[in-house]
Amino acid sequence: MCGIVGYIGPQQAYPILIKGLKRLEYRGYDSAGVALMNDNQILNVYKAKGKVSDLESSIEKKDISGTIGIAHTRWATHGEPCQANAHPHYSSSENLALIHNGIIENYAVLKEKLQKNGYVFQSTTDTEVLVQLIEYIRVSHEIDLLSAVQLALRTVVGAYAIAILDRNNPDEIIAARKSSPLVVGVGDNEFFLASDATPIVEYTNKVIYLDDEEIAVINRNTGLKIVNLKNVEVDHAIQTVSLNLGQLEKNGFPHFMLKEIFDQPSCIMDCMRGRINVEANNVVLSAVIDHSERLLAAKRFIIVACGTSWHAALIGKNLLESFCRIPVEVEYASEFRYRDPILSADDVVIAISQSGETADTLAAIELARSKGAFIYGICNVVGSSIARATHTGSYIHVGPEIGVASTKAFTGQVTVLTMLALTLGRLKKTLSEERYLETVKELASIPEKMKHVLELNEKVKELSKPFTYAHNFIYLGRGYSYPVALEGALKLKEISYIHAEGYPAAEMKHGPIALIDAEMPVVVIATKNGMYEKVLSNIQEIKARQGKVIALVTEGDEIIANVADLCIELPKTLECLEPLITSLPLQLLAYHIAVCKGKNVDQPRNLAKSVTVE
Ligand code: F6R
Repeated sequence: MCGIVGYIGPQQAYPILIKGLKRLEYRGYDSAGVALMNDNQILNVYKAKGKVSDLESSIEKKDISGTIGIAHTRWATHGEPCQANAHPHYSSSENLALIHNGIIENYAVLKEKLQKNGYVFQSTTDTEVLVQLIEYIRVSHEIDLLSAVQLALRTVVGAYAIAILDRNNPDEIIAARKSSPLVVGVGDNEFFLASDATPIVEYTNKVIYLDDEEIAVINRNTGLKIVNLKNVEVDHAIQTVSLNLGQLEKNGFPHFMLKEIFDQPSCIMDCMRGRINVEANNVVLSAVIDHSERLLAAKRFIIVACGTSWHAALIGKNLLESFCRIPVEVEYASEFRYRDPILSADDVVIAISQSGETADTLAAIELARSKGAFIYGICNVVGSSIARATHTGSYIHVGPEIGVASTKAFTGQVTVLTMLALTLGRLKKTLSEERYLETVKELASIPEKMKHVLELNEKVKELSKPFTYAHNFIYLGRGYSYPVALEGALKLKEISYIHAEGYPAAEMKHGPIALIDAEMPVVVIATKNGMYEKVLSNIQEIKARQGKVIALVTEGDEIIANVADLCIELPKTLECLEPLITSLPLQLLAYHIAVCKGKNVDQPRNLAKSVTVE
């Protein structure tokens, strides 16, 4: 949801900024821009509609010199994607250039006021209102830029991560954040700024994560100072990030999405590393051990999440209820935060978020905290806002997910939820030792089984071809497979733009069955488990209406092979672990259909990886 990069130091800023924007392009890619201060104190701003590569080609032969600069890749909120609305935005005098990730909610009132004071706007963005407001405050109050920024940020309502260059102070970047992420990279006599650590790790592994309403003043001569909106200086420990560059490259795969699908066996190993001890048949999540009293005393779990993470939450509900015999509610964070939910100090809220920056999930956490609930986070991005806003939690440790459609984060989330349910179930003694040991052993074997599933890639590719022309898809599953059906449908619609719906298989006859005809592909998760016979009946109902059935079955299943049009055979596992197996062919199916349709699978239209606005 917009990516921000900044640099100040001895090197030329432009190559660092462009490379950084490319790393952050997953956050938004409808337009991009850069502001550079050259040695003659000229503040050049270049912007282009489209991707970072479009920006690069649009500024060939322009002056891109300068050792201080800021850059932005946009995901439009206010105003269509076009050059005028791209960031950076100049102030009226063109003395200031500002980039912004977030939303200024009261921009309309502020804009009207500024217009009455003679300010003219070049764009329809909320961001231009902010830079004009800062300039207006600075000029009318005759104060320095930092004070003007502090006053302006106390006036605006909404979310922001911003960085500003000032022609009159060519050796300084001012940056600030509230509810949108911002990381400062600390190098040798140089500083970096970015929405996350990925553009920074190439140069330094030392970072500072700014907190809400903090402002970083980064000066070439005096270094870094962090203050709050009331100008009180804030001390921040420098943290070390352990990302490596290889994790940020495609490693020979045509798309990040395919690489990330194939990464899953090793990612799930990483997720379990140090947590599952196969010899000892034991699972240890340190957060659970550290907070066992609070977690075991919970009367109820509420899981809040959005999108794919919400699908993982549904699987978590099944696991936690089954292993821990505790009621679990699963909520869309966006609904929960505005619903006046009943919450108390007896509740444990589990917040799931790959990015750790999703605005709705963050707001749901804040609400739950204010009511005294204990918050457990399940995040991928280390040091992210959600990871820091929770009382405790477990990282999924699957490495950076760059493809916009979530794949390995989903299986990582499900793996952590499984380990959470196992650990709590054993502590609560609600899970028999036999089932505990059987599940731990089987969970440890999942990465190997995932490898076998990925060997089916060519088969899934072939199988997907006739479906490139489909207009609709239905995905069905029951029990643990129902959330997988939802996730399979979401993957397909996100990247191929084919309309797809997921349903609990038995719900089909309560309405969706009306859609079934010879043109309707129906993906059915029909593995050999407690629901097998029921799902087989559902398949018969579809075939009786000429629907095209693509069935995910357990290896060796001849019964469904005789009924379904196409079968994908998968290794047998425990029913509660099946989502870790069945989600992979559905990711591959969506991927191949989208590639066949010529779609940009890593950057699907209208989407962004990290949804930091409502
Ligand atoms: C789908 C997808 C989204 C995210 C959702 C929540 O492929 O990626 O549905 O799952 O935007 O994001 P996080 O998990 O970062 O909170």
